[in-house]
Amino acid sequence: MRQRNPYNPDSTPRPHEVRHVMAGARTQVTGEDQSRLSEAEIAVHWKEEALYYPGPKFIGQANWTDPGVMERFSEKNFPECFREFADLLTWDQYWHTTLDTSKAPFWKWFVGGKLNVSANCVDRHLAMYANKSSLIWVPEPEDEPTVVLTYQELYNRVNEMAALLRDHCGLKKGDRVTIHMPMVPELPITMLACARLGVIHSVVFGGFSGEACGARIVDSGSRILVTMDGYYRSGKLLDHKVNADIAVAAAEKEGTKVEKVLVWKRFRDKAASPTPMIAGRDFYVNDVLKQFAGAKVEPVSIPAEDPLFLMYTSGSTGKPKGCQHSSGGYLAYVTGTSKFIQDIHPTDIYWCMADIGWITGHSYIVYGPLANAATTVLYEGVPTYPDAGRPWRIAERLGVNIFHTSPTAIRSLRKLGPDEPKKYRYHFKCMTTVGEPIEPEAWKWYYEVVGRSEAVITDTWWQTETGGFLCTTKPGIDPMKPGSAGPPMPGIYPAILDEQGNEIPTGSGRAGNIVIRNPWPGIFETIWGDPDRFVKTYYAKYNKNKSSTDWHDWPYFAGDGALRAPDGYIRILGRVDDVINVAGHRLGTKELESACLTVPEVAEAAVVPIVDPEKGRVPEVYVALKPGVKADPAVAEKVSKAIETQIGKIARPRTVRIVPDMPKTRSGKIMRRVLASISNRMDYGDISTLSNPEVVEQIRVMVQGAGPVEKQAGPDDIKQFGKDV
Ligand code: PRX
Repeated sequence: MRQRNPYNPDSTPRPHEVRHVMAGARTQVTGEDQSRLSEAEIAVHWKEEALYYPGPKFIGQANWTDPGVMERFSEKNFPECFREFADLLTWDQYWHTTLDTSKAPFWKWFVGGKLNVSANCVDRHLAMYANKSSLIWVPEPEDEPTVVLTYQELYNRVNEMAALLRDHCGLKKGDRVTIHMPMVPELPITMLACARLGVIHSVVFGGFSGEACGARIVDSGSRILVTMDGYYRSGKLLDHKVNADIAVAAAEKEGTKVEKVLVWKRFRDKAASPTPMIAGRDFYVNDVLKQFAGAKVEPVSIPAEDPLFLMYTSGSTGKPKGCQHSSGGYLAYVTGTSKFIQDIHPTDIYWCMADIGWITGHSYIVYGPLANAATTVLYEGVPTYPDAGRPWRIAERLGVNIFHTSPTAIRSLRKLGPDEPKKYRYHFKCMTTVGEPIEPEAWKWYYEVVGRSEAVITDTWWQTETGGFLCTTKPGIDPMKPGSAGPPMPGIYPAILDEQGNEIPTGSGRAGNIVIRNPWPGIFETIWGDPDRFVKTYYAKYNKNKSSTDWHDWPYFAGDGALRAPDGYIRILGRVDDVINVAGHRLGTKELESACLTVPEVAEAAVVPIVDPEKGRVPEVYVALKPGVKADPAVAEKVSKAIETQIGKIARPRTVRIVPDMPKTRSGKIMRRVLASISNRMDYGDISTLSNPEVVEQIRVMVQGAGPVEKQAGPDDIKQFGKDV
């Protein structure tokens, strides 16, 4: 019988559970033994991959080559070891306490210290790099010229925007601003302008719908929305202004009034959107900025532990969580990890192909690279537009030498243009992957074809909540292992625990829940407006003494299953909560289900992840309709549309299946696990305890056809899924 997830018994099989089943023929613990274990604990015999070593040329110039770093960051030197990162910054006032644990688990780093983040990312570079490029923007249309901003120009524009936010909008330290923008230089300019004033920005991914943006405006209590009229995506000019109107209306419905909508113009000389501007509320930033030409705004000195930004992410319940990141600790951590793991030097041309609307973009397009005085590249559009050679053309033309992307992008570039990289003369010294587990096959293409067997790869495991990398190889020191995130970052002490909190020994072949035993400077400070949820979600599981102020009592529960090989390298298996990782984007199944339930015909909804060779996972939706409603394809279409409107196109389900009833436990809970097994063509295990087992077979026939029950997947099926070892 398949094992349930003990702290969420009726929950969906998680991505890594799917892996366990796929690797079923090779699981180590069988039969009765298995029933004692949680899904995360069932072992998987991963094929151990050979190691790849960094070459002498890379090591010769790398920022971290001293193996003594692990000793310096060992537990006996914690937390003072993190001075090494904080000392990369320019402080207005040096801190007196490196880590304050008195309100555990609300950690405070570098207490007493004051700094300004925008001054650290811009002003302090003027002395040496005023005339060096800070941002290079590549528009999606190939005939539109790239835009290069020097550090001096970035400084001018951040100051002018800060003046506008302060004097035109009346914003001051501690206020929140929601930013819903595409990948254009005006986005980091707006973020840095907020940081200059101590205004907390909340950037919402541009691909999210107006309604999703509205919900985040309400939660953060923003009275200003910054947006752009339009942008290009896959060759089409999209109307983005229309989303601002929807967002403002959605926020107003919930009682939050947006006073001003600041609209950046995509084109200087014409509007990119037909949606009208609303007099008194909507302002073209480009026009208002004329009043502030040449303005200078003194950077506000901010206590290290005051918030820099909120970043909303999905969790187990319907409501997205506003992860609050600090100013000093966060900036120290992303500056250190950018310098030492991505090996960024001021002379490098660095391109991270993520979107700034996600944490990767905040930490590793904007703050980390700029704090290191690098040149950071922003690309407006889709990597495969107009063809799969585009990224390599950009890299060749701009001289990019550090490249950063996700496994999903790697898979799709490989599928559409396996030989494209060979046609272009670019040279990467190092490359990063992030967001999902990468299968060794895709890793090897990335290494051999994209990196020409020369560029070092760092597979970085981390999360919105963690601010920066947690597990990765140190590129000038450690060998790489395809498919494995590698050892923990120096100063990060993880453990893999079973459900009872016992440590699963390294090399045991068993998986478990990965925790980080200690705080680190990049960890988020709380969930905006919901400190109880913060403690409950991330710390309650393994905390044995709620009143303890000793950090050892508060392991951070990451929500991922993981396995540690005998050499200590960590392999991340995927989420253990109700989160689906679609193309590296986190979607909460409960959020999707709430959207389905807004369709009047729908009585019940269940969302499950299905394995996709390109995107990792995609959502599939099951709905049961209200009595008397006919199972019409138009209803399925309405459900799909509701998800798109309320969340965004990225959440669009692969299929919406209308079923006669949901499989349920006797207490009435929907068995998502059973549905996910059917969707993934796997054995759904024992259903004898359900209240309506007969419906399972009906659904299986609907989904899989009338053939016999599919056997438990074995190694052959794994190839078919194209994802696992
Ligand atoms: O499941 C892990 C997966 O992405 C989740 C975090 O998603 P998000 O907060 O959106 O941040 C993405 C960018 C950091 C994790 O819980 N994940 C992230 N990086 C990796 C990964 N899974 C495997 N390997 C990785 N390198």
